[in-house]
Amino acid sequence: MSEPKIVVYCDGHEKMAESVRNAECPIEIMAPTTREDLEEAMVSAEVIFGWKIPPHIYARASHLKWVQSMGAGIDDLVSNPHLSPSVIITRVTDQFGPAVAEYVFSELLANVRHVDRLRRQQNEGSWKPFGVQSLAGQNIGIAGLGSIGHEVVRKAKAFDMTVYGLSQTPHHDLVDHWFSSERWKDFVGPLDYLVVALPLTPKTRHIVDNNVFAHMRPGLTLVNIGRGEIINQDDLKGALLSHQISGAILDVFETEPLPHDDILWRLPNVRISPHIAGPSLDERAAQFFVTNVHKYLRHEPLLGLVNRFRGY
Ligand code: GLV
Repeated sequence: MSEPKIVVYCDGHEKMAESVRNAECPIEIMAPTTREDLEEAMVSAEVIFGWKIPPHIYARASHLKWVQSMGAGIDDLVSNPHLSPSVIITRVTDQFGPAVAEYVFSELLANVRHVDRLRRQQNEGSWKPFGVQSLAGQNIGIAGLGSIGHEVVRKAKAFDMTVYGLSQTPHHDLVDHWFSSERWKDFVGPLDYLVVALPLTPKTRHIVDNNVFAHMRPGLTLVNIGRGEIINQDDLKGALLSHQISGAILDVFETEPLPHDDILWRLPNVRISPHIAGPSLDERAAQFFVTNVHKYLRHEPLLGLVNRFRGY
């Protein structure tokens, strides 16, 4: 039997192919570097290890059996009409939690310790002591208790926060107060911080909208490290402008890059980063893929298998 044709492609990130080879992939890979070469390689591809491949290019891949995403989110693949329902999708599941949780707490600590103000005062050579707050004892809610949510919970506990969690499957032992995904309004009521770590699915799209904002405390800071479309961005702007909530820390947006004229750039209570909370680490993602290639060749269940019906 001939070997499956494997295509590795990530726009602007050509080193990944080298990392796959270094991880001793048992099969020679095709690593196109231009769109034209990618389109040609897709025709014979059985396996793709990819990131941000334009959706329509999948229409060419008539021999495709398996796509391994280089990231954690696969909403673009699940919703791609050019990807046959019989194609297996897997995602990297074990690598983003620590980095994303560090992003969350770098921002939360900067918030309570007024890091921006300190640097401003330092630049001015100004010695002006002021009061700071603490994360200890504050209520943090994490919506989505997958591997990333778990790591945010673990670090929140280390900061002595009271931890609330919302998820589809029960996690009573993980958090201090657990809520099912039907109970958003009860979940958000007591929170000082809400961290959105959900996958984007038809069920979670715009799940945080005015109906949910209305139940938040004015002191709440919202952190989105999931996907922009989980939050209704217009409703979020309204909630920020009317001080329904105190602030937002946003790594993801409904449109990326965030358009230059978007008011979110200019709101003083918003902190923006360009979708970098969970950087993909080439070597580890490549190792994950190669482990899966071995499993694929042995017809064993793959790691990070996505349930396409559920959407994650
Ligand atoms: C990044 O957003 C990812 O899904 O890995």
